[in-house]
Amino acid sequence: MKRDQWKSQTGFLFAAIGSAIGLGNIWRFSYMAYNHGGGAFLVPYLIALVTAGIPLLILEFSVGHKLRGSAPLAYAKINKKMEWLGWWAVTFVMFGIVLYYSVIVAWCINFFVLSFNLGWGSDPNTFFFQEFLSVSDAPFNIGQIRIPIFAGLILVWFINWAIVYRGVQRGIEAANKIFMPTLFVLTALLVFWALTLDGAANGLKAYLTPDFSKISDPKVWIDAYSQIFFTLSLGFGIMIAYASYLPRKADITKTALITAGINSGYSLFAGLGVFSVLGFMAGSQGKTIAEVVSQSIGLAFVAYPKAVSLMPAGNLFGAVFFLCLVVAGFSSSISIIEAFVAALIDKFGLQRGMLVTIISITGFTASIIFATQAGLLWLDIVDHFLTHYGLIIVGIAEAVLVGWFFHIKVLRHHINKISSIKIGKWWDILIKYFVPFVLGVILVGDLYYEVQKPYGGYSWTSIILIGRDWVIVTLIIAFVFSSKDWKSEDFR
Ligand code: ALA
Repeated sequence: MKRDQWKSQTGFLFAAIGSAIGLGNIWRFSYMAYNHGGGAFLVPYLIALVTAGIPLLILEFSVGHKLRGSAPLAYAKINKKMEWLGWWAVTFVMFGIVLYYSVIVAWCINFFVLSFNLGWGSDPNTFFFQEFLSVSDAPFNIGQIRIPIFAGLILVWFINWAIVYRGVQRGIEAANKIFMPTLFVLTALLVFWALTLDGAANGLKAYLTPDFSKISDPKVWIDAYSQIFFTLSLGFGIMIAYASYLPRKADITKTALITAGINSGYSLFAGLGVFSVLGFMAGSQGKTIAEVVSQSIGLAFVAYPKAVSLMPAGNLFGAVFFLCLVVAGFSSSISIIEAFVAALIDKFGLQRGMLVTIISITGFTASIIFATQAGLLWLDIVDHFLTHYGLIIVGIAEAVLVGWFFHIKVLRHHINKISSIKIGKWWDILIKYFVPFVLGVILVGDLYYEVQKPYGGYSWTSIILIGRDWVIVTLIIAFVFSSKDWKSEDFR
């Protein structure tokens, strides 16, 4: 079967940027920057970007491009025994991350609609947690399915399905060519609007004033590296699959640098808008920024709605904000589904259409658990385990595999032969030694905090059954997939 291919390099670039820029860029980054020393957080963030983010992005692009395969195929070509690694990445991302990610997009769709008449009322906090989510008191107290979220979820999976079904050029590439410019225009509109609000300057001061005392805390560094990982979609198997659709001649390093640059630039820029709004809100309520800022989910679904209600023409502002989240969410979720679809096509030589339909129906059904009253609790636990352990372990394993069990020099020559910006030996050193070391330290640090007390104050039973076992079950599935024979001719 002939491999799908991007129509143009720009199409690939848009798709890679689309995958990278997601829900996390808008509120997760802003909150993290604020909480970890404002402008000073940029130091660990940029160090993480340069020492691990960009080198691994170049690695994933080049592995996908040289070996012309999705993650399982590419890793199997390096070493048959490591095929499971590719399967594990695409499995826990497809049957984990995208399941709750699509539910958050469904929340955003609901909030987009609610914006028009400020439907969250005068107390967005009570509205979000008690009315909209109607959160239960424990993860195993599932309660009922939340109908508005369920309805949003149907729409999300329908759109995901429709895009991935149409394939690489007509689906993913075409969609991102609309999504990305739309996202940039809407974000610019929001940020410039936010900057004109009264009190914006105070918000910006809180966002950017460096507090260097904070960055001596190891947790800040762990967060910086994890954020870079998540935001660049590393360890998801996505960038490998996307790069496998490139033609033989492709500029790997330039594309990696542009993707990473635009992704981080976008986060920083969006942060200006987020904090201008918080500055405005603090001013109009006579509070400090510290009193109005709240953590990730609370920032988007509680603090923002509150601010929007206070603003002139706030309903329009709110609608544009939630639309940005929806667009950013779609361009990332389709990339996750594609990484899994590509793997199955590579292994079993299946036809895309039927396969995407089955996967979308299965994905939709599995995401329903996150649309129940216990959804937020499940989301929190699963997200913690998959991003802290899944992604980081895959990152370590791929650096070790490529650095030590593949001729990394051959890969570097391959990159340099086709790319305009050449990379030197420093790249081999980062991949062979530095990345495994630093990610290893993060993993150990994470585990250390993990065993002290159950994450998030949940019971140990929920942490083990939902968090740990999600990691283990997806790992078992990965081994089952890799034990099957290759049906396609790609693996020789
Ligand atoms: N890279 C995507 C995000 O930041 C997954 O949301």
